[in-house]
Amino acid sequence: MGCLLWRMAWRVDAWMHVETITVPGTSVIGLQWGDEAKGKLVDLLSERLHVDIVVRYQGGANAGHTVVVGDAMYKLHQIPSGILSDGVMNVIAPGVVLNPAVLLEEFDGLVARGIPVAERLMISERAHVVFPWHMAEDRAVNMEKVGGEGIGTTLRGIGPCYRDKYGRLSAIRLGDMVGSDFRERIEEVVAIKRRTLAGYSAAIHDEELDAAAIHDEYRRYADRLLPLVGDTTTYLLDAVEADRRILYEGAQGAMLDIDHGTFPFVTSSNSSGVGVSSGTGVPCRWINRVYGVIKSYTTRVGGGPFPTEQDNEVGQRIRELGNEYGTTTGRPRRCGWFDAVAVRYAARLSGVDVLSLMMLDVVSQLPEVKICVAYELDGKRIQYVPSRAAELRRVKPVYETFTGWQQDVTRATKLDDLPAPAHKFLERISQLVGVPIEVISVGPARAQTILALQPGQHDDERTS
Ligand code: GDP
Ligand code: IMO
Ligand code: MG
Repeated sequence: MGCLLWRMAWRVDAWMHVETITVPGTSVIGLQWGDEAKGKLVDLLSERLHVDIVVRYQGGANAGHTVVVGDAMYKLHQIPSGILSDGVMNVIAPGVVLNPAVLLEEFDGLVARGIPVAERLMISERAHVVFPWHMAEDRAVNMEKVGGEGIGTTLRGIGPCYRDKYGRLSAIRLGDMVGSDFRERIEEVVAIKRRTLAGYSAAIHDEELDAAAIHDEYRRYADRLLPLVGDTTTYLLDAVEADRRILYEGAQGAMLDIDHGTFPFVTSSNSSGVGVSSGTGVPCRWINRVYGVIKSYTTRVGGGPFPTEQDNEVGQRIRELGNEYGTTTGRPRRCGWFDAVAVRYAARLSGVDVLSLMMLDVVSQLPEVKICVAYELDGKRIQYVPSRAAELRRVKPVYETFTGWQQDVTRATKLDDLPAPAHKFLERISQLVGVPIEVISVGPARAQTILALQPGQHDDERTS
């Protein structure tokens, strides 16, 4: 099926001539362990699909999405990647955990570069807020190990903030920050935190539990944020009913999903496609097209099993060619071969319709390229991702090896510009994952993109 889809896709390269596309609800989901270049795709689709609204629905300032427009590079952590497009409204939905300091710094940075953020941004009053005690707890917990390995979080307070949300008693939402009893609320929570964080005392500084100072700081943030705060849930429900085009921007990647990823080496939200509805309040019937974003290889930041990791010269070469250093923390990313077992799982989980394959230019420089087509677990060949980290650590990848094409593809604008071995590589990925490839990226810029399949075309093929 994948093969057929790919061959049919092959004949089409006149994507720039496509006029209007009617896709009311589109989501963009990373299918690996994050940093698949979701930011580039969201920016691109915002323009190309004539999107009205871009929504971030989970995660927080742990995300780092890079968008390159002309000579300018933007690194976005809290603000959705549609912010650079004229006429697009950007929404931070209830499922996000909000760090106001990071948001306002990003806000000011964008305004200084001429982006009218205030006109384009709306934040849910239901979003939970990250406080200094969350960051302190993240630091403290990060020193601990699970089964001998640390999670290696981004230290942005994400896990502790989500934990408070589910625990409820010491959670503060953005709507609470603009209320008249905010000071009392801070004092209440600080009193709870003093008790619950006592065991971590060495890692918690006085100012992280100084109620008066925290109140004053967050009050200032609240004053600035107030004009942006609203009921995004009603706004989005009205928007879908009025046929406005919405793009949902995932953060992290499906393999980092709290329920379905490589637990416990995951983030604390539903970062696969299943999180869109819970994070936004928009029922899944309004989401009718899912883009799965993949790199032509795999990276991972932080701890956890990584079956195709190349902790050797190959991994080092990929890191250099792909400039694989964390957008948020600057950490070198762990690098390895494309893992079709993990991506197929993530694509099925997220209901992916089409793939966007990024960083083709990186593997295009290598003398040999591998794809993991199956795992071997205790001598048995398997096609699934074991749910237990201890088992996933034991799997041995089964590879197919492709002779490298070692060609600069960064100027390719259509499929015919790519060499035959690159076609074979792409075809095999599409076949293994069971999803057609619509977009191929050959560099960070908007123009370095090939549209292999016209939006909507795959639907016809599936029924043919
Ligand atoms: P995200 O978190 O998924 O948005 O991805 P990141 O922004 O953290 O990392 C992707 C990086 O790859 C960014 O630096 C992008 O500018 C860059 N990038 C995007 N597409 C391509 C591509 O096709 N080739 C190369 N070489 N870099 C790309
Ligand atoms: P984007 O959106 C890559 C990883 C961290 C760590 C784990 C838990 O740019 O793809 P957390 O701070 O979330 O509690 O850390 O998740 N992680 C990411 N890795 N890209 C990201 O975001 C990530 N956000 C979190 O490295 O292993
Ligand atoms: Mg990133």
